Parts: sequence; structure tokens; C-alpha cells
Amino acid sequence: MNKTILSLLGLTLSVGLSADVKRGQQVFNQFCANCHGDKGQGLVGPNLTDKEILHGSSKEEIVKVIKNGVLEKAMPAWGTILNDSQISDVSDYVKSIIGKNLKNGFVAVKTTVSSFPTGTLEKPYLIRTYMPALDLDKSIFVNHGKGGNVNKYSPGSGKEDPKKVQKPINGLPSTITVNFGQELSYTFDTLECRLLYTWSGQFLDMTKYWGKGTGGGRRGFGYIPDIMGDVHFKTSGAHPFKGKVQFKGYRKEKGIPVFLYQAGGLSISLKITLGPKKGEAICEYRTNSKEPLKIKLPPGIQSSSGQSGSLILNAQQAQNFKLIVKGAK
Ligand code: HEC
Repeated sequence: MNKTILSLLGLTLSVGLSADVKRGQQVFNQFCANCHGDKGQGLVGPNLTDKEILHGSSKEEIVKVIKNGVLEKAMPAWGTILNDSQISDVSDYVKSIIGKNLKNGFVAVKTTVSSFPTGTLEKPYLIRTYMPALDLDKSIFVNHGKGGNVNKYSPGSGKEDPKKVQKPINGLPSTITVNFGQELSYTFDTLECRLLYTWSGQFLDMTKYWGKGTGGGRRGFGYIPDIMGDVHFKTSGAHPFKGKVQFKGYRKEKGIPVFLYQAGGLSISLKITLGPKKGEAICEYRTNSKEPLKIKLPPGIQSSSGQSGSLILNAQQAQNFKLIVKGAK
């Protein structure tokens, strides 16, 4: 081959490439720029112009990550949204910007939000967030819908993709969690209307959910906060009150949450405070019962007179009684 042909070949090749890159840039602007920035400099998705390339910088590898996405990190899969030549073009575009080292467009926002919120005895901190189910028995969650897999929704096509499956979030959506400082934290479930568990020590690590104070770390679905202290009590067995339960809301008495619900035809209010020992919780119940009441206490809960198991309250006691939830040993 002589030089002229070679350079001609080179010319057509580079012209062809830049046309691909141009088309790829259009695809990029339409589908990718809102996450990766208009020039690929990064926004909520990573900077594609720097040298930190997690999934490889060959065309093959780029095509693969674009096709399949990184679902647990919120990079969508484009394999069913874009056709092969669009993916090829946009991969060429991505390849062309690697190494440009553009400054990341993401400006860290200063925020007062801490991923380690805390309350005090006088001013407990209340949060409604997904909470871990720990290893509580499934039979406790009779009123929870069974979160099933769903087909993944694609924002690009506005359709669900029958081939892609999204698992349900692995946490309890219906809880109210309260922290009194180092001494006591607890989680109450509003669907089951019962205290699920208690702990003492540090409260929650919200980093997976809130990020590191730079505005949101929630990526993908793995954002259930972590319990940081020592768990003392986990509920088990049937609900203490027989019959259907329904949550009616909560109010605060001098800053302390009081849960209102119905169970087995009774109106019940439950106020949970710290007992004399670390991690010990006192549950104060008020009901509108006119009759004696039989309730079944799960292990770890006693009456104020030290009874456990089945508890029989006379009509007067049934209107206002306290139960003690064991704390630290
Ligand atoms: C909803 C936000 C979002 C959109 C839209 C999006 N991405 Fe991503 N992308 C991400 C995130 C988040 C990651 C990081 C994945 C990881 O950390 O493993 C990523 C990773 C990547 C990577 C791998 C980077 C590396 O370091 O290896 C490439 C390449 C990429 N995206 C290209 C694209 C292209 C091309 C499009 C458009 C067709 C696109 N992305 C659309 C969020 C997005």
C-alpha cells in the first residue's frame, strides 16, 4: 500500500469516527447529560472525563456498562432503550471524552443535616424512615403487604421492562423511630401497631440514605439506615391485643410521642419512655376498656408487678397500665 492510500484511509476513518462521536453526543445530551453533566463532567452520576474509570475504558467495556447499567448504583441499563448503533455511537462519544479531565459540575452543598441525628430525654428525636426488619419473625408483619418484585420502570421509554426485575426495598416503610439520646431508642410499627425493637447507645447511621452531608447518598435501593447501638428487645409472637389493629396517628405530650391506635375494638394510646435502667423502656397504655382485659406479653416484656406471659387486668387496670421492656443487662 502506498502512502496516499494509507492517509486517505486514515482520513475516511477519522471522518467516520467523528460522525459517530457527533451522533453519540446527541444521544448523550438526550439521555445521559442529566446525570453525567452536559459535557460528561459529572453531576449525580460520575465524571466520565477523568481517569477513574471503574468499569473499563475500552469500547467493549463501555458498551457493556451502558447496555447493562449498574443497577445498584442507579446507572440505568440502556440495552432496551437505545438501539445498538445508538449505543455504539454514545460509547464512541464517551471514549472521546475520557481523559479530558473536566471539572466536576457537582458543587457540594453545605448542609446542617447530620447523618447521625440524635435526640435527648427532654426532646426526643422522631424520624419516619425505612428501618431494618432485623431478624424479626415474618409472622409479626401480618398487615404488611408482601413486597414483590416488579418490572423495572425505564424513565427513558416511560415503560416497564418485562425483562428487568426490581426487588422490593429491604426495609420496613411504616415505622416511627424515636431516640432519647444514648439511653434509649425504639422503633414502633404503624401498620402492626406494636413496638418492634429497642436499643441503647448510638442511634442510626443515615449515611446510606442522606449521604455524607453533601446532599443525598441515596443511590439504588440499598439505603436502609443502620442501627448503631446494642439491641435489647425484639418483639415476637402474636400481637399483645387480639383483633384488628388500625393506626390513628400520634401526638406529642411535652415532646414525647404518644401513639394512638385501635386494636380489637379498643382505643389505645401508648407512650414509651425510658425506665430506670439503661435501654429499659416503659410502655404506658391507656385504653377505653370497660371490661377486664387479657393480653399476651412477648418474652422481654413484663407487667409493672413483674408478671410475664399472659396478663389479666381487671376493668380498672385495663384503662391505664404500664409494661416494662427489658433493657441492658
Ligand atoms: C440516572 C442517572 C444516570 C443516567 C441517566 C446515566 N447514568 Fe451512567 N452512571 C450513573 C451512575 C450513578 C454511574 C456509576 C456506577 C458505578 O459507580 O458503578 C454511572 C456510570 C456510567 C459509566 C461507567 C463509568 C465508569 O467509571 O466506569 C458509563 C460509561 C456511563 N455511566 C455512561 C452513561 C451513558 C452513555 C448514559 C446515557 C445513555 C448514562 N450513563 C446515563 C448514572 C447515570
